[in-house]
Amino acid sequence: MSEQSNRRILLIDDTPSIHDDFRKILTPARAGSAQLDEMEAALFGSEIKADRPVFELDSAYGGQEGLGKLVQALRDSRPYAVAFVDMRMPDGWDGAKTIEHLWQEDPKLQVVVCTAYSDYSWDELLDRLQAHDRLLILKKPFDNIEVQQMANTLLTKWEMTERASIQMHHLEQLVDEGTAQFRQASEALQREIDERRQLEGQLVQSEKLASLGQLAAGVAHEINNPIGFISSNLGTLDGYIKQLLEMLDAYAAASRSLETGAAAQLEQLRARLELDFLLEDIPLLIGESKEGIGRVGRIVKDLKDFSRVDTNQEWQWANLQLGIESTLNIVANELKYKADVVKEYQPLPDIECLPSQINQVIMNLIVNAAQAMGPERGTITLRTGQRADTAWVEVADTGSGIAPDTLQKIFDPFFTTKPVGQGTGLGLSLSYGIVKKHGGEISVRSELGAGTTFRVELPLRQNRPAA
Ligand SMILES: Nc1ncnc2c1ncn2[C@@H]1O[C@H](COP(=O)(O)OP(=O)(O)OP(=O)(O)O)[C@@H](O)[C@H]1O
Ligand SMILES: [Mg+2]
Repeated sequence: MSEQSNRRILLIDDTPSIHDDFRKILTPARAGSAQLDEMEAALFGSEIKADRPVFELDSAYGGQEGLGKLVQALRDSRPYAVAFVDMRMPDGWDGAKTIEHLWQEDPKLQVVVCTAYSDYSWDELLDRLQAHDRLLILKKPFDNIEVQQMANTLLTKWEMTERASIQMHHLEQLVDEGTAQFRQASEALQREIDERRQLEGQLVQSEKLASLGQLAAGVAHEINNPIGFISSNLGTLDGYIKQLLEMLDAYAAASRSLETGAAAQLEQLRARLELDFLLEDIPLLIGESKEGIGRVGRIVKDLKDFSRVDTNQEWQWANLQLGIESTLNIVANELKYKADVVKEYQPLPDIECLPSQINQVIMNLIVNAAQAMGPERGTITLRTGQRADTAWVEVADTGSGIAPDTLQKIFDPFFTTKPVGQGTGLGLSLSYGIVKKHGGEISVRSELGAGTTFRVELPLRQNRPAA
């Protein structure tokens, strides 16, 4: 803030003699008075009077000229604090019009209207200018001291207003800064809350998987035994039944040589028991049971993989793209009628992994993508790339997409939206477990009706303690 006070006054009057009067009143000969002050100081040792009011007076002889000076002064950053404006100026603008123009350019200007008589009543004038707080009236003929005091008071008022507005501006700035800091802090807080929520979600997810994994391992172990003897018994039963059928055929042939009464009795029995139907149905029933138990066996195997028991596979350096290609060959049939496959591979180094498990992850993702297609043929895009110490694979489809509230459940074991028999809901939870075991991440983004992209990120090398 400038400490230099503003002493600048503009006088607008068409009568030259008024300018002389004002000059005498407001700027008494400085040189003479300064000399007097200095002599007084030398003689009596008193200090030089510093507070003698000094004004800087500019003259204009018409409204337009006055406005020109005011505009120039603003441009030079040396604004006037006060203008004395004559009300009656026959050529050009009158006082009221001049004041309107001055305030349009500089609303802070303090104005004194000088007049002996006016074309307006004072009420009219005040109403027209709408600025009762910036306007004083000085009636001619005026008193010298009145002019001086008006000039003094208005300069002080201008300065106080200026200072208040600078302070107000400063305060507003402080408030703005405070608000910005507050906003930043609350944004940071929100980010932290979101991160925490996500971490908690992940933690819950991995704990849930871990405990389900143990449960699954236990259940798998318990089921494995009965599955074993049921399927072996079914095999044996199949053999026995075949033998029995052979025997029945032999009996049927022998019965033809029996006496008529006994043969008729047997025939009756055969009809009542619907033996022909039984003979047809028994092998079918056994076949279905074998298939059923085979399916249970496969689920149990998935469960075991999911719970990471039975893992005696070797960590190897393997090429992800080769893995994807061999997986594509295996699922080719599944894809053939559903989607075109687009490959966007970037070169990748070999990564340290359990290749068969990684292939299983990729297979689950590709099969899911194919199953997400509607009646129309879609596209599955496979992408690979490297970022810092990780390799990534993306499987993107143009399928049904996943609703936001479903999205949180898809990694849960047994969560499926597919019809019974088509999905067990283990594919993704299994994949999640495998990726975690590799120290990697699996993520998904999806838009309902547009498609889904799964992304798997795997570290290039494993930080395992030496076996
Ligand atoms: N690409 C995808 N597009 C749309 N939905 C998907 C996609 N991948 C997974 N889902 C949803 O996630 C659910 C769980 O998938 P997950 O692979 O775990 O089980 P599944 O495919 O239903 O059965 P499974 O893989 O055991 O045969 C699916 O039922 C489906 O609702
Ligand atoms: Mg699946």
